[in-house]
Amino acid sequence: SFEIALARSVMTLPVPAGRTILDVLREHGVDMPSSCEQGACGTCLASVIEGEPLHQDVYLTPAERRAGTSIITCVSRARSARLVLDL
Ligand code: FES
Repeated sequence: SFEIALARSVMTLPVPAGRTILDVLREHGVDMPSSCEQGACGTCLASVIEGEPLHQDVYLTPAERRAGTSIITCVSRARSARLVLDL
């Protein structure tokens, strides 16, 4: 598991194994749009301010993956203990 800190909402939320970032955001009232929920469409993209994403989507380009400044919240997770998102 890891945690997400929401820079604009000033919340820190744990993301347990078996839950997605998208699930956790919605549980806490963050209005994140989604469509496919399988990592393919990019609708649920969030900007990463700090921390290292563990990309599990098929949407981002290789360059975007390397840059580490965005994450597909319906499938991807974190390599670092904490991700700070621009939400
Ligand atoms: Fe389609 Fe997340 S909802 S990539």
